[in-house]
Amino acid sequence: MSSRHFLNLLDLSKDELQTIIARAIELKSLGLPSQTLSQKTLGLIFDKSSTRTRVAFEVAMTQLGGNSLFLSNQDSQLGRGEPVADSARVLSRMVDCLAIRTFDQAMLEEFALHSNVPVINALSDDFHPCQLLADMQTYVEHKGGISGKTVSWIGDGNNMCQSYINAAIQFDFELKIASPFGYEPRKDLLELSPNRVSLLRSPSEAVAGSDLVVTDVWSSMGQEEEQARRKLAFADYQVTEELMSKAHSDALFMHCLPAHRGEEVSTKLLDREDCVVWDEAENRMHSQKALLEFMLNS
Ligand code: CP
Ligand code: NVA
Repeated sequence: MSSRHFLNLLDLSKDELQTIIARAIELKSLGLPSQTLSQKTLGLIFDKSSTRTRVAFEVAMTQLGGNSLFLSNQDSQLGRGEPVADSARVLSRMVDCLAIRTFDQAMLEEFALHSNVPVINALSDDFHPCQLLADMQTYVEHKGGISGKTVSWIGDGNNMCQSYINAAIQFDFELKIASPFGYEPRKDLLELSPNRVSLLRSPSEAVAGSDLVVTDVWSSMGQEEEQARRKLAFADYQVTEELMSKAHSDALFMHCLPAHRGEEVSTKLLDREDCVVWDEAENRMHSQKALLEFMLNS
């Protein structure tokens, strides 16, 4: 099928990503609803819970003059075993775009293969590219371009970390990852850009000289049974005020949310007045508007 898809950050060019970020900032400043997606329908297929991603997509479609249609596993035949390829063939004859949150990246790829409309990854076990659009927008708004800066990832080598590896390539920054043994990101992704991305063990070493410090939950969706083991493994990987003091004095802290205060982030860091995570969360909507316009109109 000839549609473009957004299954990970590498699916778009550097220039295209910059265009989307710039448009997100513009849409945010314009503030007003528009009709750029008039008569368009976005299908949302979510196999996992969501607050930000779902609401951002639904409100984005409404404010751009279109509609969205939410399909959870319980509501659709996909949840009763209808093949992914058949679901893709059928749904893509009715809607203009599909955003899918699921476990297996291979499911997204199979869906995209059989879809004749754009498919967007709304989070998989491997990647969360939509979140990176919001994070990059937030950095640009607060500090200007991220090119040439240093970013530290503290904690699990999960879907967010792996999207940061892709972002280091696409947005041209150095990424220092601190993960405990056994919880590193995929080796093949680390090897994509050995000059830009390094794997360390010590959070202090990873944040030294950093412009942006990022973390995420110790147990992602689907890993609930591993929680006790993970709490032990990640005990030294909490982002605290003290850890932040080792980064540049004006370094930003980001977290995709939801956060577990007292685990991956200290109880106070999110409540500081200069905390940008609420802007980061709001920017999910602006950046997803820009993404939808790009996927549907270009
Ligand atoms: N950050 C993020 O994707 O949040 P939700 O799980 O609430 O969508
Ligand atoms: N890594 C987290 C991100 C949630 C937005 C998860 O997959 O649950």
